Amino acid sequence: MNLARTSDLWWKNAVVYCLDVETYADGNGDGVGDFLGLTQRLDHLAGLGVTCLWLMPFYPTPNRDDGYDLTDHYAIDESLGTFGDFTEFVRTAADRGMRVISDLVVNHTSDQHPWFQEARQDPDSPLRDFYVWRDEVPEDGPHGVVFPGEQESAWTYDEVAGQYYHHRFYHHQPDLNVANEAVRDEIRKVIGFWLAQGLSGFRVDAVPFFLETDGIDETMELAPHDYLRDLCAFMTRRSGGAIMLGEVNLEPEQQREFFGDEDGDELQMLFNFIGMQTMYLSLARGDAGPLADGLRSLPDIPDEGQWATFVRNHDELTLDKLTDAEREEVFAAFGPDPDMQVYDRGLRRRLPPMLDGDERRIRLVYSLLFALPGTPTIFYGEEIGMGENLAVEGRRSVRTSMQWQPGPTGGFTSADRDQVRRPPPEGDFDPDHVNVRDQQADPDSLLNWFERMIRHRRDLPILGWGEWEVVDTGHTAVLGVRHVLDDETVLTLHNLAATPSHVDVDPDVEDWQVARDLLGDQHVEADGSRLVVDLAGHGYRWLRIESS
Ligand code: NOJ
Repeated sequence: MNLARTSDLWWKNAVVYCLDVETYADGNGDGVGDFLGLTQRLDHLAGLGVTCLWLMPFYPTPNRDDGYDLTDHYAIDESLGTFGDFTEFVRTAADRGMRVISDLVVNHTSDQHPWFQEARQDPDSPLRDFYVWRDEVPEDGPHGVVFPGEQESAWTYDEVAGQYYHHRFYHHQPDLNVANEAVRDEIRKVIGFWLAQGLSGFRVDAVPFFLETDGIDETMELAPHDYLRDLCAFMTRRSGGAIMLGEVNLEPEQQREFFGDEDGDELQMLFNFIGMQTMYLSLARGDAGPLADGLRSLPDIPDEGQWATFVRNHDELTLDKLTDAEREEVFAAFGPDPDMQVYDRGLRRRLPPMLDGDERRIRLVYSLLFALPGTPTIFYGEEIGMGENLAVEGRRSVRTSMQWQPGPTGGFTSADRDQVRRPPPEGDFDPDHVNVRDQQADPDSLLNWFERMIRHRRDLPILGWGEWEVVDTGHTAVLGVRHVLDDETVLTLHNLAATPSHVDVDPDVEDWQVARDLLGDQHVEADGSRLVVDLAGHGYRWLRIESS
């Protein structure tokens, strides 16, 4: 395969790692994570094999939505350090071979943002039109609330302005008016600014909502997708190789539109929400069927596009694309207590406690993360099997501080535990049981297994680049995916059931001689044209089908 092209399209084969600076490592001992602490931990990430860091919002914020409510797009929240600390961090990450992307939050701002403050006070200010105002709540405008139970409406009356403003998310997050050219200019400036600081692109927050123009009075000059195309073109003009990884949790066919035309002229990457949700249903049932159907339902995407595969992200583990009955099955299996559920659609748990710490199943899931077609995207702490802290409110239960070593604060800070905003859990998943330091010393730990799996994944560009298809394994519990690139074929097999399975697959390679075990030494010699393999309960195999 063409190496120059492979590295140009780096995101096709990246290993992405998402973290929040606030909860990762505290370098100055005040109980809050910061860029200083993060920079000191970069060797952990480089050692793991991560190639791209995705930073959750680190901009100035009143922190009512964990930084997704920002008051300045061009600065660093002072609790996280100085701009100098940020620049040192980006430089050091590059030195360790890691790119950095950050959350681009341009659907809305905080209501404390100076733009909104001026907009609400002065109807004649040019900033008034930065937001979406109405005298009455429009019947035809958008009404859906994203956070049922925490948000009553998508329109809130502002006494100062004497009008209603639109907000898809919390009432303290007024939506920006993208129909206003001045807003679009500002968004371009934000993108240009962070690229100039050395970032390699963005995780774009809430893309469909950001592009939504319903409820906006003026007619937008550009169709939303033309606008997105323009924005991506602008980004790559400013910085070749920069990407946008979009949060687009829609049905597969609608997702396809966000990749753009057949050359991929809109978002480079989208999260594979369908794969994630169907995987949990498969796990709950011990049946590969839902995941196989989920993968088959994905649209063909442009060569330059890519799915970001993930097991969980920083939000609720949303199951909104499953039917009510399917979602109930997953709830019953992995989060039966109402306190584990949120917004009637998701779970506020991490994987290891959901699986009662069962290492075999945990490794099966992460083998899927690395083997499924796409780019694996890790949420911090997954590499050591961190659990959630249900005592921390709402979605934040999974955003607790990183567990570096034993002790009440897990080595996250030198401050006392009561100074830590989101302390680690107590019990089986506390830092005494789950931490980086102990796992580094144990060759059989999840951490060391993760590192090996990432090495295998990076050795196999075919998993990011190849054509792939779900194959019949002769067994409903076993997911088989065949990847083909040039004359190479790799078959990955994952047994979702607790019982062993006897798999019988057609590898579709003429005169194949051996199926080489890429994770061990259980090679399978050809005996006829079919490939016959025994898989242990929750077992998995990655096999390269070789002919003479
Ligand atoms: C999506 C983010 O992932 C979520 O955490 C946030 O609350 C909303 N967008 C609003 O920005």
